[in-house]
Amino acid sequence: MSEELLMIPGPVPVLPRIRNAMSKPMIYHRGEEFRAMYEEIVAALKWIFQTRNDLFVLSGSGTCAMEAAIGNLVRKDTAVVCIANGKFGERLVEIGKRYSDNVTAVNFEWGSPVELEEVKAVMEEKHPQVVTMVHNETSTGILNPAEAIARLARKYNALFVLDCITSIGGYEVPVDDWGVDIAIVGSQKCLGAPPGLSAISVSERAWEMMMGDNDNSPYYMDLIAYKDSFEKGQTPYTPALPLFFALREALEVIKEEGMAKRVERHRRLADTLRSAVTNLGLSLFPRLNEVSAYSNTVTAIKVPEWLDDAHLRGGMRERGVMVAGGQGRLKGKIFRIATMGNITEREVSRTIRALEGALRG
Ligand SMILES: Cc1ncc(COP(=O)(O)O)c(C=O)c1O
Repeated sequence: MSEELLMIPGPVPVLPRIRNAMSKPMIYHRGEEFRAMYEEIVAALKWIFQTRNDLFVLSGSGTCAMEAAIGNLVRKDTAVVCIANGKFGERLVEIGKRYSDNVTAVNFEWGSPVELEEVKAVMEEKHPQVVTMVHNETSTGILNPAEAIARLARKYNALFVLDCITSIGGYEVPVDDWGVDIAIVGSQKCLGAPPGLSAISVSERAWEMMMGDNDNSPYYMDLIAYKDSFEKGQTPYTPALPLFFALREALEVIKEEGMAKRVERHRRLADTLRSAVTNLGLSLFPRLNEVSAYSNTVTAIKVPEWLDDAHLRGGMRERGVMVAGGQGRLKGKIFRIATMGNITEREVSRTIRALEGALRG
């Protein structure tokens, strides 16, 4: 039987050369070999993030980097505005509330776009020191207006934390040009590596806010400890070495392809998938406005009333393709197909055939 094709929004299928990298013997994590590997990984990630800011790799999934971002920046009285139009935007609100008593959520219906005027009105009123948003809202398949919100954050003198967990590696995300103070990515998404690592970039302005007493910050994800250790080519605690080996190889794959081609491939595959889905009579889930777009890394599709979600996805699975259901309040209402990482036309065609077959019953 051929391997099941994972078309869920992470973990994505991992190329054999990346998987094989994990079987290397362990190395001393305070030695020269690790230092060289860590520096190589960080240099490649800075190139992908388009940043000159400091950048670290954390041994933890995307949520670890979300908490590192907020936990290090925010104190109990820090004014935080969290923009949310899906599950992951709301997760930033939840993390924000663990660290600050002054969080304002700007909520939009899941699947609705972010309205700039509403965000602006809240910024006028609350004068936040930190603003958070998810770039690519994986739960609803929408791309949010990161550049416009970064501009607003600057205007109101707030730091901008952007969750790029499912955008970096599949989109151009010019962190410095846009002025993103903290950007984060997860290994198991568009980078095409296994799950378990995340990366975080930190601007000068963000460091300024982090310095000084903060007895409320996380210990394991203490970014100042990461900065100090980086000077020695190390991480503060034992890194997940096999995952570092895999990430290095995944980044090599990205360098070989080139970012422009990679972004174009993500666009083309998502486009192919969206056309096929609508040609089959199905509708895309998100409602767009002039500053949002359908995601090129995950496509969210409405489950038509005449169809049962579990039955549909079960039918695809019988045909060897695993796709994701809706999360939280969208369970049973939408299903999601990822086009992330190193997948090609072949996998997308196989997915479309499985969807056609499942729809026929
Ligand atoms: C936009 C976004 N943010 C955060 C996360 C959480 O990442 P993880 O599951 O790696 O902790 C995800 C995971 O799907 C995501 O898509």
